[in-house]
Amino acid sequence: MMNSVKKLNIDRAGFVDLEIDKSLNLVEEINRMRKEKSAVILAHFYQEGEIQDIADFVGDSLGLSQQAAATDADIILFAGVNFMAETAKILAPGKKVLIPDINAGCSLADSCLPADFAKFKEKYPGYTVISYVNTTAEIKALTDIICTSTNALEIIKSLPEEEKIIFAPDRNLGNYIQSVTGREMVIWDGACHVHEEFSLERILELKNENAKAQIIAHPECEKPILIVADHIGSTTSLLNYTIKDKGDTYIVATESGILHQMRKASPHKNFIPAPPKDSTCACNDCKYMKLISLKKIYNTLKYELPEITLEQDLMDRARGSIVRMLEISDRLKL
Ligand code: 13P
Ligand code: SF4
Repeated sequence: MMNSVKKLNIDRAGFVDLEIDKSLNLVEEINRMRKEKSAVILAHFYQEGEIQDIADFVGDSLGLSQQAAATDADIILFAGVNFMAETAKILAPGKKVLIPDINAGCSLADSCLPADFAKFKEKYPGYTVISYVNTTAEIKALTDIICTSTNALEIIKSLPEEEKIIFAPDRNLGNYIQSVTGREMVIWDGACHVHEEFSLERILELKNENAKAQIIAHPECEKPILIVADHIGSTTSLLNYTIKDKGDTYIVATESGILHQMRKASPHKNFIPAPPKDSTCACNDCKYMKLISLKKIYNTLKYELPEITLEQDLMDRARGSIVRMLEISDRLKL
């Protein structure tokens, strides 16, 4: 059964696209299967609200990798994108790691190809390579320490002053770290299509209309957006800021999925998604994150497909850089 599903559907579409009985209560079915199969559902903040609401854990890239490393479930179903599911597989190689749509990529990870990066690295012998977690397993294997937006500043600060650093692949996060820490870094020229879409002009127009609104931004945004931001941080940091802050209106410059948790945590506050440059598109939605649906989660749990599989040797070469990040984060209580 499973093999034929794989042949008929996975190869063609990247997910199990079998129609399902419309009378089924998907949430009840998912709950039943996750118990029966000892599966845990991990979801990123950029997922649709209804997916975040059924997840066992909702979080940012760091939190999700910490959960994957610690879980005793047999199956990890990752409602997120490939690099996150790959990270989970590398940290928990004995578990079955499933992703509801194998096409859930990441434009930032795609902006750093392993062959090009290996050549780039050769130009800087003796440099320590710090890479953002939004990278393929091959890039992680070429990296000394992985970081996420939650721990990037602390990881860079933890390195001795004289250490020379390559930072990859996000130029905006790299430039932001450089400006805060004063550390010289060689920065790979990559970016995320969602975070480079925000319009400074339209954000400032919104700010003019809502004098008390604060601008909060993910460090993957371009410098002009970060300059006007009242708070800059990872998805968790942005969420926590809106919970603790005394203000009541926020213009949120990151993928719109995070607004779900912000509204849940502070229903009396007002959250405005930062507008993109092109007013006709929903470009502040990550098209890859939004490939995941409840129906695909149901089919994935049922057929246990698509599964993340990586060569043992690649996992072994990539693991050290992620484990180093988790150890530093643990030590710094991040
Ligand atoms: P966080 O680690 O802040 O959740 O960011 C992940 C991501 O993909 C940002 O685009
Ligand atoms: Fe990648 Fe950007 Fe989507 Fe984050 S929002 S997963 S960086 S494409």
